[in-house]
Amino acid sequence: MNISYDEAAGIFRLDAGGMTYVLRVTDEEGFPGHLYFGKRVGEDDISYLARTEEMPWLPSGNVRDRCSFLDSFPQEYPGNGVGDFRSPAVCVTDEKGQTGVQPLYVSHQIEQGKKTLPGLPSTFGTQKDSMTLSLLLADRETGLELTLCYTVFEGIPAVVRSVRAHNRGEKTIAIRRLMSCSLDMDVQDLRLLTLNGTWGREKHKQILPVGIGTQQVSSIRGISSHQAHPFLGLMAEHAGQESGEVYGFNLIYSGNFLAQTERDQFDRVRVQLGIHPKDFCWELAPGESFQSPEAVLVYSAEGIDGMTHAFHELFRNHLLRSPWLYRERPVLINNWEATFFDFDLEKLLTIARRAAKEGIELLVMDDGWFGRRKDDNSSLGDWTVNEEKLPGGIARLSEELAKLNMKLGIWFEPEMVSPDSDLYRAHPDWAFSFDGRTPCRARNQYVLDLTRREVRDAVFDQIAAVLDSGEVAYVKWDMNRPLTDVASHAEGGQSGALFHRFVLGTYELQERLITRYPELLLENCSSGGGRFDAGMLYYSPQIWTSDNTDAIERLAIQEGTAMLYPMSTMGAHISVSPSQAVGRLVPMATRGHVALAGTFGYELDINHLPEEDAALISGQIALYHRYGDLVREGDYHRLASWQDNRLFDCYEVISKDKQLALVTFVQVMGEANVKSRRIRIPHLSPDARYRVTVVDPAVREHDQSGNFIGSDEIACMRSILDKPITGRTLAEAGILMPKLRGDFRSVLIEFRQEG
Ligand code: DGJ
Repeated sequence: MNISYDEAAGIFRLDAGGMTYVLRVTDEEGFPGHLYFGKRVGEDDISYLARTEEMPWLPSGNVRDRCSFLDSFPQEYPGNGVGDFRSPAVCVTDEKGQTGVQPLYVSHQIEQGKKTLPGLPSTFGTQKDSMTLSLLLADRETGLELTLCYTVFEGIPAVVRSVRAHNRGEKTIAIRRLMSCSLDMDVQDLRLLTLNGTWGREKHKQILPVGIGTQQVSSIRGISSHQAHPFLGLMAEHAGQESGEVYGFNLIYSGNFLAQTERDQFDRVRVQLGIHPKDFCWELAPGESFQSPEAVLVYSAEGIDGMTHAFHELFRNHLLRSPWLYRERPVLINNWEATFFDFDLEKLLTIARRAAKEGIELLVMDDGWFGRRKDDNSSLGDWTVNEEKLPGGIARLSEELAKLNMKLGIWFEPEMVSPDSDLYRAHPDWAFSFDGRTPCRARNQYVLDLTRREVRDAVFDQIAAVLDSGEVAYVKWDMNRPLTDVASHAEGGQSGALFHRFVLGTYELQERLITRYPELLLENCSSGGGRFDAGMLYYSPQIWTSDNTDAIERLAIQEGTAMLYPMSTMGAHISVSPSQAVGRLVPMATRGHVALAGTFGYELDINHLPEEDAALISGQIALYHRYGDLVREGDYHRLASWQDNRLFDCYEVISKDKQLALVTFVQVMGEANVKSRRIRIPHLSPDARYRVTVVDPAVREHDQSGNFIGSDEIACMRSILDKPITGRTLAEAGILMPKLRGDFRSVLIEFRQEG
């Protein structure tokens, strides 16, 4: 890892983990230019890539074509309105409404270490493992100063970028667009990889050619959303899962965002990520500053797999702060899909008693324990225990659970208020609403104006009172509607700042919560994965991945999520079959295998499970204890995607020391008259020998007549089950997967190093 500056050539060079990123500042005027982002290059002067030695040259030598220069120069942080017709990185208006801005180089600083961003989630690093370049740019006319920050981390092929705007002038400036990163890439024939979806179908991958003009994914829902994700990948022409060049861009932010490519007239691609400019207008008075969120830019020469690895390493080592990151998480049971709102103390304890016997360690009491809540029409904002349902409150419930050796988790939805609540009746002005308009309801609830300190305090005090009233080990923080009617009734609540200030308010509340309760295990949630993003991972080590717990649909959702985020962050639970989301029948063993890919738990009433399913639970929990460390700490590699082949899914997790690997194979659709499938098992130690085991009780499924069908199914593996086999052979020759009969079947295969 290094950052260097070649003063003569005006070149800044950042190297880390086999990646090089190069900027150039032109010696006349100081235009910040982007030269290169990709595989490590030699220590040569590559300033020729700016093409200033060809037409239209630099404006100083050809002032009549200044506009051609600005519209073709590979920019690092383009201004607005003065000659570059591609998308600007920054837009402002001054007091007269003028919109011209052209940030030019002033100075720079290169330092060891990485500063965190106050009030925002951000990466962190030490003096030893990180280095930061701060590039100060200024626009002479408006007095706007921009500090572009670039950090590299030891061993990780990534650059983390952000921008701080400061008004050095004498008049107020309104910032209307401030991208966290912008760069003009000189790479052709790229394909755009995005993660899209809806409720219950989050983060499905989509790959499209990057065409001329702009393509974007974005959210204006106030949250990162189910529909889009603040990420884009760019794949070189022949890149795939394991090979070829892939660039990944991820914004560490949980609100409105824009992620955009713009292929220009010369086939170069401008990439930008940042807060969505729609409804954004931040007024900067003289002397004031505004900080953008961070964007992570990753380079991989090993396809999507390399990108995934870089994101996982960066997030695990430099973003996730929770003490729970590598700790064994308790096996939990959540009552939501078991009871919905219809529960009381006795019902919860009936679930808990059976759960405890099976080895489940934590009961999560979901929505419905507070105020007068009996359905989703009331009481959000009234965070006091409903004693009719829970006599003795949290204290009694946690004591009863303690007798069973179980801990308690509780659900909250702190950002919301029900129109039918004491809080709303007392403070209708604490909800967002436009003057004279009835706010739009979603799930019959309004959004609290968390930009106001007194609102945040009132919510926090209520939550703290509940948590202090008993022993609470875990909190599920839910958020179940998008933002509309975003207007504040507080004095001076600037409307263009509200979406962002709401996000800052949520971050501040979560920071307060984990500061006051440092041992609390916090799980974020937003109707499933509506806010599963890097921003929230700064506060919680795990996030509920989707409300869709059907194991087959989960394969696609978990593939998209694990493409960016460590498996240890994905909430994954076993629920009933047929699944409540899609009505599909999936064997209990498969449901268990798929849930092992994340933080493991149950979302059902064990007392009402068919006995043959319930009989598998203790074995599933044993598997979780056996492989939990591996899943949390190991390296994840996707070997096949059901989304691509429509037949089967396969992924591998390997311990860092390569002693142990676990491969999950799910046959989504069975086929007639096929041979067993050959799958390569990469990334093991080439010369080490591995003992291959088909993990019980995976193939202990029984056929319809009750016969154990494992033996026939694994006949194709018999010879390698007997004798250890080298990592090299496993990587190239691979193995033959058990020939599973039927749809939605799965198997776990363990590879354990001998000696
Ligand atoms: C949405 C969440 O995703 C569910 O798990 C559950 O907590 C409900 N909200 C409760 O309202």
